[in-house]
Amino acid sequence: MSRISYVDGKYVEHENAYVHVEDRGYVFADGVYEVALVINDVLIDWKEHCERLQNSLDGLKIDYQVSMFELESIVKELASRNNLNDAMIYLQITRGVAPRLHQFPKSDVKPVLSMTVSPFKLPSNESSNGVKAITLPDLRWKLRHYKTISLLPNTMAKQEAVEAGAEEAILYEEDGTVTEGSSTNVFIVDKEGCLFTHPANKSILGGITRMGVVNVAREDGINVKEEPFSLGILKEAKEVFITSTTKHVLPITNIDGKKVADGEVGQVTKKIIELYSKYINKQL
Ligand code: PDD
Repeated sequence: MSRISYVDGKYVEHENAYVHVEDRGYVFADGVYEVALVINDVLIDWKEHCERLQNSLDGLKIDYQVSMFELESIVKELASRNNLNDAMIYLQITRGVAPRLHQFPKSDVKPVLSMTVSPFKLPSNESSNGVKAITLPDLRWKLRHYKTISLLPNTMAKQEAVEAGAEEAILYEEDGTVTEGSSTNVFIVDKEGCLFTHPANKSILGGITRMGVVNVAREDGINVKEEPFSLGILKEAKEVFITSTTKHVLPITNIDGKKVADGEVGQVTKKIIELYSKYINKQL
């Protein structure tokens, strides 16, 4: 069976899934995206992904009204055409095709929606021994709450991590404040078992997984503080983990070549993995 993708209103063979050379996404990275999961034919946290998508579109003044149901029907059609019950969806909306001028084109230019699905099984991470991270300066722009396709600093940071044998690069500002990972949010646990994560403001992408983790932790009585913390605090943390749609809750047990605490996955992290797995399973 051949792989099918979706480009600008059409379901097409993946190898013919092209956008125009003057698409502003291609020329200026002028577009936004979402990554979401289908598990057992169910779209996970779909409302939250659609709300964030609309917020990113509005932030960039791309004139596109997200319809949760319309997008859901495209996702379901695409998953079905690819014979997938469990999949990762990548969807992107660019401002559209126009001659290369920096200013936004006139309103007759239509945004371009494209979508791909690929086979994906969510890792449970329940038996994970943890992974390594490195730390790097955060070189990105200042509107990181919009999920834009302009990801070069993120890809460069991830590449450095991979070259260092690590899973993720944890980013920090000039003043040493930890923001997030190159494609994940970062949590630490202090000596009292309190969770800390950067507040969901313009300095980070407000992860859907981050939000889920904050909610399930609080519901379970775990103290969560959405407050910035420094690189020094990160390195002294009792436990560290990262979150994203595709990584779930993933323990970090080594940062910049040094163990986090005793180098073992901590009890709070294990509890969060369990709580978050339950939260996902409840949607199925
Ligand atoms: N990345 N921070 C950044 C910079 C991200 O790119 C992502 C997700 C997250 C976590 O967000 P969420 O929990 O909503 O997935 C945080 C996606 C998975 C990607 O670019 O592939």
